[in-house]
Amino acid sequence: MERTFVMIKPDGVQRGLIGAIVERLERRGLRLVGMKLMQVSTELAEKHYAIHKGKPFYDGLIKYITSGPVVAMVWEGTKAIEVVRSTVGATNPAAAAPGTIRADFALEIGRNLIHASDGEETARFEIGLWFTDDELLSYTRDQDRWIYE
Ligand code: RTP
Ligand code: MG
Repeated sequence: MERTFVMIKPDGVQRGLIGAIVERLERRGLRLVGMKLMQVSTELAEKHYAIHKGKPFYDGLIKYITSGPVVAMVWEGTKAIEVVRSTVGATNPAAAAPGTIRADFALEIGRNLIHASDGEETARFEIGLWFTDDELLSYTRDQDRWIYE
């Protein structure tokens, strides 16, 4: 089963949207295997967004991600990486499809509420960056046989 890294950004925490966002992913059938509330250091933010270093929005992005607590999570499920990305919606909430998290709760690209890994390699890197092995659990839920064939 595939795993992906998801983060509720500081705006999601400040706006009281942790529950609403987690509910969307749970409802989809995905399984939460790791979760922690944390204040991101500049060092961690720079590692996480290293790929964007040098871009015009980079400094603002680091400032945004370190501006308050975030909720770091790992979710598991069939095609979890792709499924979470499509549930999250396009990077710019103004252009995201209705029904996606970013479209339903946000308006601007620099306040787009949530991060999700964009591929297998990224997911592996990000899960390892944010979590230790013993912070991730393997378990099943009674309802899983009604979600997974
Ligand atoms: P994320 O990494 O946060 O899940 O978002 P993403 O894959 O949809 O978008 P990405 O291209 O990786 O950009 C990372 C984050 O940087 C901010 N951003 N601002 N002002 C801009 O043009 C701009 N472009 C990107 C967004 O917060 C975006 O989520
Ligand atoms: Mg990205």
